[in-house]
Amino acid sequence: MITLQNVSKSFSRFEAIKSVTLTIEKGEIHGLVGASGSGKSTLLRLMNLLELPDTGDVEVNGQTLTRLSAKELRLVRKSIGMIFQHFHLVANKTVFDNVAVALQLAGSRKSDIRLRVLECLQFVGLEKMAEKYPAQLSGGQKQRVAIARALANNPQVLLCDEPTSSLDPNTTAEILTVLNNINQQLGVTIVFVSHEMDVVKKICSRVSVMSEGEIYDTVTIEPLGIQAIDNRPEYFVQQLKRDGEE
Ligand SMILES: Nc1ncnc2c1ncn2[C@@H]1O[C@H](COP(=O)(O)OP(=O)(O)O)[C@@H](O)[C@H]1O
Ligand SMILES: [Mg+2]
Repeated sequence: MITLQNVSKSFSRFEAIKSVTLTIEKGEIHGLVGASGSGKSTLLRLMNLLELPDTGDVEVNGQTLTRLSAKELRLVRKSIGMIFQHFHLVANKTVFDNVAVALQLAGSRKSDIRLRVLECLQFVGLEKMAEKYPAQLSGGQKQRVAIARALANNPQVLLCDEPTSSLDPNTTAEILTVLNNINQQLGVTIVFVSHEMDVVKKICSRVSVMSEGEIYDTVTIEPLGIQAIDNRPEYFVQQLKRDGEE
């Protein structure tokens, strides 16, 4: 689904990505982990050409992005959704309009846009929040709006840059469940950047470890799945006592 072939990227003299070759298979949830500064975000942004590679080719769904015209690239980008740690919603637009933006740019009919926006909001469980503004939402709800926006154009790939890194454990589980559903029910290929190993182990089936701009290794794992979080006070007390004993 995504192939990077000897892709390099420097910022001034600094080589952030050093001739990386990596294939992401159709239908997988592929993790990208590594220390801060190892090049995870840059590699992700190379996958939709938000960063232009200095050398090498980027291929998505059979098309070599690095050889497309600006117009062709705009079209292919619609099949690649992206979400971020800090959501990137437009503060003075409603939830509905934040999702609609993706479709208005594409010039769809108003009635079609409305149907599609509501469908996407329903998928992330926010259909009742359509008229709210971002400031009225929790972090998890904001991320679900961003996910709905990323889904609006029916992407084949979803690029996720630390989407749960500013969320608490309960909300993280909620977002991971939504991402899993997108992968399982809609067949969307997901690339998931994170520095949180426990999160990656829950949903990824392959994980690439980055170090200093290179892929150190790629490991195939059995995803652990997303367990319900235990919120009972007894559980908290039990955990505290157990930690105390060790
Ligand atoms: N736009 C940029 N200009 C200059 N340096 C950058 C830029 N983007 C990233 N870098 C540098 O490239 C390296 C990799 O960054 P990044 O991909 O953000 O790492 P990660 O996401 O793993 O923390 C870092 O050293 C960072 O400072
Ligand atoms: Mg990063």
